[in-house]
Amino acid sequence: MASNTDAETEIPLTDLLIRQTTRADLPALEWDGEYWKFREMFADLFNRSLEGDVLLWIVVSPGGDMIGQAFVALRSGDRNAADGKTRAYVFSFRVKEKWRNRGVGSTLMKFIECDLWQRGFRYVTLNVAKDNPDALRLYRRMGYEVIDSCPGIWSYRDPDGIIHHVNEPSWRMLKNLSGKE
Ligand SMILES: CC(C)(COP(=O)(O)OP(=O)(O)OC[C@H]1O[C@@H](n2cnc3c(N)ncnc32)[C@H](O)[C@@H]1OP(=O)(O)O)[C@@H](O)C(=O)NCCC(=O)NCCS
Repeated sequence: MASNTDAETEIPLTDLLIRQTTRADLPALEWDGEYWKFREMFADLFNRSLEGDVLLWIVVSPGGDMIGQAFVALRSGDRNAADGKTRAYVFSFRVKEKWRNRGVGSTLMKFIECDLWQRGFRYVTLNVAKDNPDALRLYRRMGYEVIDSCPGIWSYRDPDGIIHHVNEPSWRMLKNLSGKE
């Protein structure tokens, strides 16, 4: 895979491609090993994407590198998060460090909101860790409001079969897409 040069990160945002994840993209979702631990979760999410339950969006540089991602649950067991009709839940939103603070994340969120609007969804929900002020600021700037406090307890199994429990107190945020200009 081609590696980014600093010059590459100066390209116009319009040169970036936002598309859905294919099976061939699954290794790249591990981001050079950083997210190896989520391999099973990614495979499971990919299968759910084939059933239409989730959308796995990635941002690709002109050089072909995956530089960002955000997943969207269209339906979920937690109907306050996603109900399959009007309310969808954004998660696993991240941009590779050298590409941050250039508008990539905001562009991806706007893209997702437009896509959801076209699919008939009117509300977007997400959780943000209480100790993540940068992301909280971005979401507020984009019109999201805190509506609840969540314990943020979840778990995943790594490829070695070890179960990890995550305890990440979070804010639940909501945006009403009908209110957008
Ligand atoms: C949160 C995250 C996805 C944001 O991605 P990003 O690409 O940096 O987002 P943007 O560039 O659109 O916005 C970040 C800041 O850069 C600013 N910015 C946007 N374009 C800019 C530009 N061309 N020049 C300078 N600054 C710019 C934005 O105004 C924003 O400022 P703010 O921090 O005051 O809100 C990224 O920081 C990340 O991956 N963090 C780690 C994972 C994470 O915390 N994810 C969220 C989980 S809930």
